[in-house]
Amino acid sequence: MKRAPLLFTPITMKGVTLKNRIVVSPMCQYSCNAMDGMPNEWHYVHYGSRAVGGAGLIIVEASAVTSDGRISPQDSGYWSDAHGEAWQKVTKFMQNQGSRVGIQLAHAGRKASTQRPWEGHNGVPDDEGGWEPVAPSSVSFSDNYRKPKEISEQDIKKYIQAFKESTKRSDNYGFDLVELHAAHGYLIHQFLSPLSNKRTDKYGGSFENRTRLLLEIVDEMLSVWPSDKPFWVRISATDYVEGGWDLDQSVQLSKILKQRGVDVIDTSSGGLDLKQKITPGPGYQVPFSEHIRKESEIATCAVGLITNAKQAEEILQKGQADFVALARQILRDPYFALNAAKELDYKIEGPIQYHRA
Ligand SMILES: Cc1cc2nc3c(=O)[nH]c(=O)nc-3n(C[C@H](O)[C@H](O)[C@H](O)COP(=O)(O)O)c2cc1C
Repeated sequence: MKRAPLLFTPITMKGVTLKNRIVVSPMCQYSCNAMDGMPNEWHYVHYGSRAVGGAGLIIVEASAVTSDGRISPQDSGYWSDAHGEAWQKVTKFMQNQGSRVGIQLAHAGRKASTQRPWEGHNGVPDDEGGWEPVAPSSVSFSDNYRKPKEISEQDIKKYIQAFKESTKRSDNYGFDLVELHAAHGYLIHQFLSPLSNKRTDKYGGSFENRTRLLLEIVDEMLSVWPSDKPFWVRISATDYVEGGWDLDQSVQLSKILKQRGVDVIDTSSGGLDLKQKITPGPGYQVPFSEHIRKESEIATCAVGLITNAKQAEEILQKGQADFVALARQILRDPYFALNAAKELDYKIEGPIQYHRA
């Protein structure tokens, strides 16, 4: 039997084994059309197809822990047991295809209450289903977005509690893994970066203060998350803006997160400030993953313009990451994993229903 490429070598994290290292990166579908955060037929078919396509791990889209944490009014939510029940139907189908399934828990902060990408890039007013967003400081993301209200210390407790409850719910309703969204300029990232966090209390200023919210959330989430299930955190390794969050701080933070019990840093970048200068190219965020993996001695997931099997295998072979996540390529090709095996000349079992093909 031919030796498996690393991409198709199973990997066990705590009590969860993935059949391969291919991760469907979390991707908002902006398709909860009733504006109630509930997944529907779209989610069932969309996620189901990616599971049929053979991905080892599917992390479902950023799901808001409170209703004001949705990006668009049509975003997924996870703030009640009814959401848990609705997602469970989707999750079970994916698990029955042999994928493991995670949920990304999120709060959009000042980027909440905005239009779906295909409708524009403006804040949504109250009379169209929008709401006043919250943020560490009352500084808008852009002129088109709504001005956020500064969160009081009292309300911070409420949001921490919401992350905790959604985490417990994720376990109760059968998710194998939780990923905390601390990237892309959403609420937690807004606290991390000095560009968006202008607070003068214990949540602003020094590195210790800016990371306080994230660490308090992580501690509360882990207090109710089973020790045999993996816990990931997605960060933006850098803001790409002078004076913002950067790679050195990401390394320092990742070391602390490891000590706290976090298993994997899902390493993305950017999204906080419109002044960012990014030159995207194949695997453009992989060096961040490699650096954090080496310097913080924590497992990482690489993401960003990873589009073919050879590239994905090379990232793993070179020790630049432990997992590879794909977003746009896996939108184009839900069968990426099956096709990747073929590209690497390795045989894997597809769904039995498709054997004749
Ligand atoms: C339609 C779409 C929705 C996305 N939604 C999320 C999300 O919910 N959470 C997240 O962390 N990243 C989100 N992203 C970013 C992707 O997960 C990924 O990090 C990014 O697209 C880069 O990977 P790629 O080059 O493989 O597309 C989204 C990307 C796309 C294209």
